[in-house]
Amino acid sequence: MSDLQLPYRSFASVHDLPDEDRLLLMAARAAIPHAYAPYSGFRVAAAIRTGMGRVVTGFNLENASYPVCLCAEQTTIAAVRTQYPEESLEAMAITVSSKEHKVSQPASPCGQCRQLLFEQENINKHPIRLILQGEVGEIWVFDRCSDLLPFGFTGDFL
Ligand code: THU
Repeated sequence: MSDLQLPYRSFASVHDLPDEDRLLLMAARAAIPHAYAPYSGFRVAAAIRTGMGRVVTGFNLENASYPVCLCAEQTTIAAVRTQYPEESLEAMAITVSSKEHKVSQPASPCGQCRQLLFEQENINKHPIRLILQGEVGEIWVFDRCSDLLPFGFTGDFL
């Protein structure tokens, strides 16, 4: 029997977060109005802080052909990796907003985004910290993306 654990910290308020994490979460929140989510009404925005201290934001981009939708994690990581290929990823904050209800708990990255984050972390110089919040409510902080994908698939299998 394995005693696999899911290590994360929960903070009751943004005011309890370290300054850098709070600022990153605020940057993600500021990007929410730009999300293009006319089909689901579920906006997701992310902000990445790079090793140079640069903050890059992104958001979900939906499409009338639903499988073409891009998650916020995808657009944000692609923005950093393509525009600043020399920079490492330090941390990523993700926040959401729904037209249906106030999202009061952190929305976890989907399975595909966990796989994306997992590989980006593996090629990074160090773990990527994740800061997750819904629209309001508690904040979850993970010290590394791999904690969200135990037994993750890597290129080593190929
Ligand atoms: N979405 C993300 O942007 N990230 C995730 O990790 C989960 C889902 C987006 C995709 C779609 O535009 C909307 O949320 C509803 O699924």
